Parts: sequence; C-alpha cells; structure tokens
Amino acid sequence: MKKNGSTVRRSTGVFTPALHLYYPITIARGNGIYIESVDGKRYMDFSSGLAVLNVGHSHPRVLESAGKQLDSLVHTGGVYYNETTVAAAERLVSITPSGLDMVFFSNSGAEAVEGALKLARYVTGRQGIISFTGGFHGRTLGAISVTTSSARYRKNYHPLLPSVYQVPYPCCFRCPFHQKSDACSLCCLHYLNETFLRQISPEEVAAMIIEPVLGEGGYYPAPVQFLQGLREICDRHGILLIFDEVQSGMGRTGRWFAADHAAVTPDILAVAKGIASGFPLSAVIAGKKLMEKWPSGAHGTTFGGNPVSCAASIATIDVINGEGLLAKSSASGDKALARLREIAGRCPVIGDVRGYGHMIGIEFIDNKGAPDSEACKKMLDHCLQKGLVLINCGLEKNVIRFIPPLTATDAEMELALDIFEMGARRLR
Ligand SMILES: Cc1ncc(COP(=O)(O)O)c(C=O)c1O
Repeated sequence: MKKNGSTVRRSTGVFTPALHLYYPITIARGNGIYIESVDGKRYMDFSSGLAVLNVGHSHPRVLESAGKQLDSLVHTGGVYYNETTVAAAERLVSITPSGLDMVFFSNSGAEAVEGALKLARYVTGRQGIISFTGGFHGRTLGAISVTTSSARYRKNYHPLLPSVYQVPYPCCFRCPFHQKSDACSLCCLHYLNETFLRQISPEEVAAMIIEPVLGEGGYYPAPVQFLQGLREICDRHGILLIFDEVQSGMGRTGRWFAADHAAVTPDILAVAKGIASGFPLSAVIAGKKLMEKWPSGAHGTTFGGNPVSCAASIATIDVINGEGLLAKSSASGDKALARLREIAGRCPVIGDVRGYGHMIGIEFIDNKGAPDSEACKKMLDHCLQKGLVLINCGLEKNVIRFIPPLTATDAEMELALDIFEMGARRLR
C-alpha cells in the first residue's frame, strides 16, 4: 500500500504548482458518501468531490450503466452517431425547464460556459456580455472574462474578452447597496438601467450570464424577485439570459435546477459537475428556436458527448428520480439549515447560514462582522480531523460549502452536524 505522503510528495515533481488541491490526502476508494485514504482513514465526503457526486461515489447503477457502455463503445469523436449519446440528451431535456429542448454536449463546466457565450453572440449578432461580480464560470479565457470571484483567476491573463461588463450580484448578507433584506428595493436590478445608460446600450448586449446560486463566490442564492426581474429586463431588450448551473444544477438545490426555485426559464443553461457522477460531461442547453440558428460547424467537439459519460449521465438522472432524491434532499437540506442556524445562534463567529437543499453556505465573521477566514479554517481543520471533508469558498475563503451527496441519510447528516457543532463549541 502506497502511503499518503509519497503520492503527495511525488505529485509536486510532476504537477504544475498552478494546480491547487484542497487537502494533502490521497484517496484510494470512494463509496457512497465515504472516501478512504491510502493509509486507511475513512472520511465522510461532504464536498461531494466539488459538488459533482450528487448520487455519491461509485453509485452501483451508474457504474453498471457506464460499464455496459465500456464493453461496447468508448468513443465516437464526432465522426458518427451512437444511441447512448442521443438517449442522454433526451433524458437531460426531460428534466430541464420546459422549452429548453436541444443540447450541445462538451466536457467541462468552462467549456459549457464558452459554448453558451458563443451561442449567444452568434445568434444575436451582438457582442456585449453582462456578468455579475463574484461569479465564477471556469478557467478558460472566455470563462475568466466573465469571472470575478477573485482577481487571482484573471491575473496576468489580460487582455480578456472585450465588451464584458460587470454588475453587482445580489449578495444579500453583504448587500453591495447596504440595504437590509426586509427593506430591499432590488437596487442591484435597477443598477442595470444605469449600466445601459452609461456603459452599453441594451440593444448591443447579447447575453447576461449569472449563477442563480453564487458558488465559488460565496454561496449566495439570488433572491427570486431578482431573477424574475432579470428575466423581464432580458425579454424587454432581446438579451439572452444564461444560467450557469454548473454547480447548482442536477438536483443540488433540491430541485433539478436552481432556476426552478424562481420559476424562471433561462434562454441558455450551462450544466456540468453533477451531470454524470464524475465522468467528464457538460452541456449547453437551449430552446429549438435558438439552437436552430446555430448552424452546422459553428461549434464542435472531439470528446463532448462521450458515450461512457452519457451512459453514466442517464443512470445518474434515473437514480435521482428512482430514489426520490429531490424531495429527500430538499427535506434533509431544510433540517440541516434549521440546525445550522441554531448552532449559529450560539456561535457568534457564524454570521449567516443560507442556501437550498444540499447547497448550503455557512459564513464566518469576526466581532466587527468582517469575513473571518481564520475561524473558517479552524472549523475545516476540526472537521477533517474528525473525518468530515468540507471545503470553503468566497473571496476571503470564509464560507464553508456544506454540500453532501443527495444520498446522505438522515443519520449521516446528523453525524456530520454533530461534528460541526463540536467545532462551533470550540470556536465560541
Ligand atoms: C458555476 C460554475 N461554472 C463553471 C465552472 C467551471 O467548471 P469546470 O471546472 O468543470 O470547468 C464551475 C466550477 O467550479 C462552477 O462552479
């Protein structure tokens, strides 16, 4: 058995230091919500492999479906058709908001975002793109051009895509307009008018791209009225609304998509992460009317729609449906939110607990209300030591993402919350 230290040490010889991993732990196997390190320590994986393993590690139905596909065909390379990839697209559009019924498969979240931006520019013939401060959309050049969760993702890569404009994201706990949530007059929505008057005319804007729940930027759900207001503004000006649901999609928030909480249908949806339980796959999804204006050859891929990933995706959707995981995780997420808020009530360093389903953010603050990344790190270290893997996010890295697989049982949720509560007692 290779010891943990050896792998981590050797990785520094072959991996560029640009690659950041959260923890120096080498994992030998994963099963359900559990992972086991090469030195035999078992952890509850409440990072879900960065919000990917919505049905847990190595779900038997996903493995069976992918395994069967492996036996017959692994790759098509955009040369010919295969049944599994078409069936996966059909299954995917059966769960997307109605009207989003055509798919372009690619491999990663960033690639789906690139595809969404290209589609928007192509079909509108406009260049302008509006994105929201704090958003994270991936690491390719187009994606970092609309990403502002941290300047370090953009540093030394300028010039980026031109005609991209940033407007404030409605991070209510830290309202950019200093409003109280019970007296909010949706300043961030009205700010768009200012942008249209001062920076770019709306008829030059191809698309707005937004995460309906801000992920990497700090786990802030956008208020429902805000998303509905965006939809209206986009409709008024012929601007396409892109929802980046790479992190919030595929059941993570207790609904198939966070868009469902607001009953807003975007024009274009970018999906990845949980779509195929760890097999590389992503998708740009839009309505037929739009997709039919994107002609043959305007976009393409070699690996997108890989049949094995597609088989895993079909099984993932079937598992979420078959095991009733949306309703189950929505209920267990509500319980977790309530308990975390109780814990926060007794622990002043926890300033806010927010989210939907199994996508919960826990924000750490100091006694002046400023971000407290040190307290957050102490909590992460405590949890890791007790066998619970959690990860952080936010500009100041002071927000914990509580993102267990949707398959976590009530008992497993309680156990994780017990560990968290013990950590909170030490922080008081
Ligand atoms: C909302 C969002 N969009 C895009 C991406 C990029 O995905 P990938 O790392 O698969 O390129 C991420 C990754 O964390 C994400 O959270």
